[in-house]
Amino acid sequence: MAGECPSMGEDRVVLVTGARGMLGSDLCPVLAEAGWRVVAADLDEFDITDPAAARDFVSGCRPAVIVNCAAYTAVDKAETEYHTAFRVNHRGARNVAEAAAAVGAALVQISTDYVFDGTKEGAYTEEDPTNPVNAYGLSKLLGELAVRVTLEKHYIVRTSWLHGLHGKSFPRTMLTLAQPCPGGKPRSLRVVSDQVGAPTYTVHLAKALAVIISKPCYGTYHAVNAGCCSWYEFACEVFRAAGLDPEVTPIPSSEYPTPAPRPKNSLLDTSKLARVYGHQLPSWQKGACEFVRLWRASR
Ligand SMILES: NC(=O)c1ccc[n+]([C@@H]2O[C@H](COP(=O)([O-])OP(=O)(O)OC[C@H]3O[C@@H](n4cnc5c(N)ncnc54)[C@H](OP(=O)(O)O)[C@@H]3O)[C@@H](O)[C@H]2O)c1
Repeated sequence: MAGECPSMGEDRVVLVTGARGMLGSDLCPVLAEAGWRVVAADLDEFDITDPAAARDFVSGCRPAVIVNCAAYTAVDKAETEYHTAFRVNHRGARNVAEAAAAVGAALVQISTDYVFDGTKEGAYTEEDPTNPVNAYGLSKLLGELAVRVTLEKHYIVRTSWLHGLHGKSFPRTMLTLAQPCPGGKPRSLRVVSDQVGAPTYTVHLAKALAVIISKPCYGTYHAVNAGCCSWYEFACEVFRAAGLDPEVTPIPSSEYPTPAPRPKNSLLDTSKLARVYGHQLPSWQKGACEFVRLWRASR
């Protein structure tokens, strides 16, 4: 059942969909701190795959900006549950864009490095051709295209390897797996070392999104923590920050097959964000350390 949005209609209202997900949970307080009146919505408030519910909810709060963090994010399951992935990531994005257009709101559509095939040498720019290698990536790309054709006042923000305190993520899994065995014997882990990207901490991305919506410089942006690493290097940094010392062996992706293929190179060039907004996210190591610090404090 569609929820009701309190009637607002002020310039500084921002609607966050997927507000109880990993990014949305960190984005809402960051936007509130930046002076926005935040309307947080998730499936309980309205389902983005229902166009009428989206339209009704958005016209109730008349936001100046919508940040669409709602998504189907189960990358491996999307290979078989592709109908659901496309319904949420493509049609859902289109519904949110149409609802935004109806009230004159701007829309930030969160997207992914998985729109690229990973065969480029070096970092992908916003202008590079897309070519997703899995169903999730294709569903997100169609979401981008739907937003672009539906409303002019849009920002597409591509990010990668997200980790935050409020969801399942690679560093959380690593920290769980690395807890010493009973008796204190260190764990032994094998981690993929031939896929590279930029791990991105949700709070750092949230702050970048607050900067992006502060100016109407619409278009496509890449927003990831600075630097790059492999999953293996990311795991080692997380263990170092947590003071854990498991035995970690680098392995090729071929030794860790997954239902959905992953791009080998997920690097996103962030120079446009720096040029247009003068903003750069901190290093991925800083993001990893901050995650570990809060993860420890929350236990
Ligand atoms: N996680 C990553 O590594 C990563 C990397 C690059 C880009 N991204 C993108 O970043 C954005 C945020 O990702 P995230 O990791 O924060 O995702 P998430 O934790 O899975 O959060 C998504 C939220 O959307 C909700 N949702 C799902 N279907 C919905 C629907 N039909 N209507 C309304 N809400 C719905 C989910 O509810 P339920 O949990 O109840 O389904 C969840 O609360 C997504 O666009 C994702 O594609 C993520």
